[in-house]
Amino acid sequence: MKKITIMSLMGAFILSACGNAPKSTAAETPETAENKALVAYFSATGTTAAAAQTLAEAAGADLFEIKPAVAYTRADLDWNDPQSRSTIEMKDPKARPEVADSVENIAQYDVIYLGYPIWWYTAPRIINSFLEQYDLQGKTIVLFATSGGSEFENSVADLQPSAPGATIVEGRMMNDEPTVDALKEWLEEEKDRAYTLFK
Ligand SMILES: Cc1cc2nc3c(=O)[nH]c(=O)nc-3n(C[C@H](O)[C@H](O)[C@H](O)COP(=O)(O)O)c2cc1C
Repeated sequence: MKKITIMSLMGAFILSACGNAPKSTAAETPETAENKALVAYFSATGTTAAAAQTLAEAAGADLFEIKPAVAYTRADLDWNDPQSRSTIEMKDPKARPEVADSVENIAQYDVIYLGYPIWWYTAPRIINSFLEQYDLQGKTIVLFATSGGSEFENSVADLQPSAPGATIVEGRMMNDEPTVDALKEWLEEEKDRAYTLFK
């Protein structure tokens, strides 16, 4: 699975390189270590929260929890119930559950790692609400997620319209409960990849 996500990430970079992304060479690239990073996440039952904490530690990044203004109850999360809150929201691509709080001075971050549980083969709508709070033009948004087995699926396509001008890429599924060291290794590998170049 890791291979697949990294391959898809590389694919995204190759596509970007062939498309409209600003051209840059390694020699022109600013020192990536100077980039300030934020890990922002939503987690309804704690699984993604644990991954987010590990990632923030590995990346030396600030951590921000995307809290819904109205917390999800257990009944809200019942995907077998066509009338549950989550089902209703996920059936409606325009649903925008309210976020309780916002990131202070998001402009200071070059890279935002954005994490969530996969719901109905995509990101929960509150992730769109989160993105739409800010001007994220020029930012790099690296997705991470937990799930019952799905990959990122429709995440990028569904989130991109909520972050015009930002580059959103699939980062890493976290279902293997990676350690800090495993994530440091992954971040090290990612350093060579293009998402830090397209700025
Ligand atoms: C409403 C809802 C829909 C879900 N849809 C999917 C899905 O499409 N594919 C999948 O693999 N898991 C799905 N899951 C499982 C969650 O992605 C998984 O349990 C996740 O790790 C929960 O993360 P959290 O504890 O951070 O909320 C769904 C869970 C919920 C509550």
